[in-house]
Amino acid sequence: MVIKSKIEKALNKQINVELGAFYSYLSMAAYFGSHHMTGFAAWYKVQSNEEFKHAMRLYEYIISRGGIVVLTSIEAPQEQWKSFLSVFESAYAQELTVTGQIHDLINLARSEGDYATEIMLQWFITEQVEEENTAKNNVENFKFIKNTTEGVVVFDHELGQRK
Ligand code: FEO
Repeated sequence: MVIKSKIEKALNKQINVELGAFYSYLSMAAYFGSHHMTGFAAWYKVQSNEEFKHAMRLYEYIISRGGIVVLTSIEAPQEQWKSFLSVFESAYAQELTVTGQIHDLINLARSEGDYATEIMLQWFITEQVEEENTAKNNVENFKFIKNTTEGVVVFDHELGQRK
């Protein structure tokens, strides 16, 4: 069954959101890179790639359902933060927003009787649980080290291990 235009439009909008997250995490990576935090920068680069893959998952799905992918402009991301902690907090807030958007999409798919889209979106539901959890852990762990030089160096090294 070819995808309904209402669903196609909503999924295209989510592609833009995921690419926005890609851009936003890349900006966080650049910020940390400029502050010589190579581990944090590496972690956010990996995360930005994850977001690109999320966008591509939706992109491939729309095409597989006979829809049309419409790419729109990506808003310029924030580039400065008042502290390292505020970067971690922004990332967590971003994930909470995305979770809400995925839930809205599932509700739309349900109300339109689009079972295939609902099943496809289940992957995102699971993914958001993981993404929220890691983003929250980053916030809590950063608070735990209380901005001590030693703590920041160790945490930077730890996050830099992400593949
Ligand atoms: Fe694609 Fe981190 O949400």
